[in-house]
Amino acid sequence: MIKETFIQEKRPHESATKHVSGYALYTDDISEPEGTLYGAIGWSKKSHAIIRKINLDKVIKSEGVVAVVTSEDITGRNDVGPVYDGDPIFPKNKVEYFGQPLFAVAAKSTELARKAVLKAKITYTKLKPIIEIKDALKKKSFVLKGQVIKRGDPILIIRKAANRLKGEFTTGSQEHFPLEGQVSFVIPQEDDDFTVYSSTQHPSETQQIIAKMLNQKSNSINVIVRRIGGGFGGKETQSFIFAAICTLLAKKTKRPVKLRMDRDDDIIITGKRHDFYSEYEVGFDELGVIEGLNIKLSSRCGISPDLSGAINSRALLHIDNAYYLPNLLVENFLCKTNTSSSTAFRGFGGNQGMMVIENIIDNISRSLNKDPAEIRRRNFYQKEKKNITHYGMKIEDNVIYEIFDSLMKSSNYKSRQLGVKKFNLKNKYLKKGIAITPVKFGISFTTWHLNQAGALVHIYCNDGSVHVNTGAIEMGQGTYTKIAQLVSKELGLPFDKIKVSATRTDKVPNTSASAASSTTDLNGAAAINAVRIIKQNLGVFVKKKYKIKNSEAIYENGLVKFKGKSFRFNSLIKEAYLNRVSLSSSGFYTTPKIHFNRKTFLGRPFLYFCYGAAVSEVIIDTMTGENKILQVDIIHDAGKAINPAIELGQIEGGFVQGAGWLTMEEVNWKSNGEITTHSPSTYKIPAVSDMPEKFNVEIYKYGKNKENVVNKSKTTGEPPLMNAMSVFFAIKDAIASTGNYDKAPIINAPATPEKILMSIKNLERNL
Ligand code: MTE
Ligand code: HPA
Ligand code: MOS
Repeated sequence: MIKETFIQEKRPHESATKHVSGYALYTDDISEPEGTLYGAIGWSKKSHAIIRKINLDKVIKSEGVVAVVTSEDITGRNDVGPVYDGDPIFPKNKVEYFGQPLFAVAAKSTELARKAVLKAKITYTKLKPIIEIKDALKKKSFVLKGQVIKRGDPILIIRKAANRLKGEFTTGSQEHFPLEGQVSFVIPQEDDDFTVYSSTQHPSETQQIIAKMLNQKSNSINVIVRRIGGGFGGKETQSFIFAAICTLLAKKTKRPVKLRMDRDDDIIITGKRHDFYSEYEVGFDELGVIEGLNIKLSSRCGISPDLSGAINSRALLHIDNAYYLPNLLVENFLCKTNTSSSTAFRGFGGNQGMMVIENIIDNISRSLNKDPAEIRRRNFYQKEKKNITHYGMKIEDNVIYEIFDSLMKSSNYKSRQLGVKKFNLKNKYLKKGIAITPVKFGISFTTWHLNQAGALVHIYCNDGSVHVNTGAIEMGQGTYTKIAQLVSKELGLPFDKIKVSATRTDKVPNTSASAASSTTDLNGAAAINAVRIIKQNLGVFVKKKYKIKNSEAIYENGLVKFKGKSFRFNSLIKEAYLNRVSLSSSGFYTTPKIHFNRKTFLGRPFLYFCYGAAVSEVIIDTMTGENKILQVDIIHDAGKAINPAIELGQIEGGFVQGAGWLTMEEVNWKSNGEITTHSPSTYKIPAVSDMPEKFNVEIYKYGKNKENVVNKSKTTGEPPLMNAMSVFFAIKDAIASTGNYDKAPIINAPATPEKILMSIKNLERNL
């Protein structure tokens, strides 16, 4: 038996120096061939209207313009919808949201292109838009039919319960705001082939969408992505339209074209996080244990399905968070509105579902005048019983008690809670609040077939250096670094002998989006499988040549050791080459164990769960509603973390992004559908000054993935975002103190200063 060893090696991101020195090449930095043109998109100024006429005469005549494209130029599929149609590249007859692309130009500079599109004369006949979820519900305007899930007999149980609560709750939308916005750069090749550089999380689907748009074969489109400057879900599908339009312009002009979006246009055109509206009724006992729960869960999907089916389904799959819900009815409504199509955003609906139950538990605690920490813990899934989720999956890796209890201790929750109460007694205008919240988040794409990945590994014979390609997109999360670490461990080589290079559809085909936090789990495993095939080739060769039997080779410290015979890696590779042994292989991986029946909503959609818990302490100014995070303590499970430094970055970054979602980032639309929050001046993401004053993050010391996942690690992509729920409930706790803690404040997310003030006033007036 070979002893299992793990990496757990802190090392900087492979591009860290390049990121900070400016040498990292993003799509916009790739050198442009002579004759490159620059694109801009003309978009709709109405949110719902019939297009009467698009007059582009002045656009065409505008300085520097070389070509204009409209729906007329699309000979193939005029849609970029990933699962269903509904996202036209350029609609023909009708616009459905303010910002919907209508045409595009290629010009001699980006500035001239952007000036030109403003000269379009478009005549519309206005139609009445639907903007708000409640309006869509009233008018039964949906993008897809929602699921109904039922467990036990919730209605009866609620009726019989000792205590009941009713209410409604919303969580807000969120703009992805990556540092690098949407951008594509397309270079025509011979035979109408195209090389497409696109800032996307999904090269394979970009390839397919362009091929269908042009009525060309997929093998004529090559999509290349070295890195993207953040995606956060906003480039899982929303990058497609830019790559498509850019290719259309390149095809028409037969010249390279770059389409880099202005930040405002980017925000106006693309979809964001789904905001969710829920109505609930809950029945619970004297101890605060939930007995029955009935929820109507509605989300703003925008004009089309996009990924809304999967996102709403993940919301339903996380309506339990870490809690056992014996009797449950959830009806889900996917509202069609005249807003940009809502899309993937870190958490992918899971966090929206989890906020619903956290808010309910918080209100239960307040109604019983108990510490929410106590009621939360009491409702947790148990280990031996009460361990089956509402979708029929047995939880086998539950470490929420361990994490929650050690965080209660290490954060000094109890004594700090007393401190908070003392402070609040002494201070009239400033109030503090504290809260602890748990996280349980399921890992795997809930769309079963997406749980696959491929890799291509070469070892070069002259120096033994290793070249790796996979389907993984490096978006800052460090997947290239972690994959190189895994390969270096598998081959017993130093890290710097491994190069993971740009992800390309001509090297690794049919890839899934880098998403669902599964990128390294899937692509790292595929890379290891490719390496193992090469090792197999080497083993066969060595055993035959040196007559070695029954010996597993050990690869470590640059050596390859068989029983009684040891080689330096480089010499073995050279020798193998001279003996005509293949030193290159593809690799493939599929996630084991998972299955899920969408109709019955039963199965095992996830290979494993990630767990975490966070304590946040905040202070609010009851005169202005201003708020500040004073201290955050997190314990988060990363299994056997491949690179604890990178995981720590993900845990911190995810938390801050979540805190932004729940406190300050607010997307607003006017009643006519015009988005008002379309630039950094009107939309506020957390800055350095918004970081918690004290921020103690610990990777769970005893973490180990029970399942067969690379390095026994657990991903840290999305789950840490949900640790930020503690900030929202700490704010709620601070508000509750203004009413002596015996009433539950009513406040929706994000808890902006306005909402905090309103909530305090409503509490005063006993509303
Ligand atoms: N971290 C950085 N720096 N940039 C990103 O765009 N995206 C998040 C998360 N962390 C993101 C990030 C999202 S939405 C997902 S799904 C995961 O990373 C994807 O990467 P992973 O699968 O390697 O965790
Ligand atoms: N997460 C992220 N993206 C996805 C998923 C998911 O579960 N399913 C389909 N696309
Ligand atoms: Mo992440 S929302 O799955 O791209």
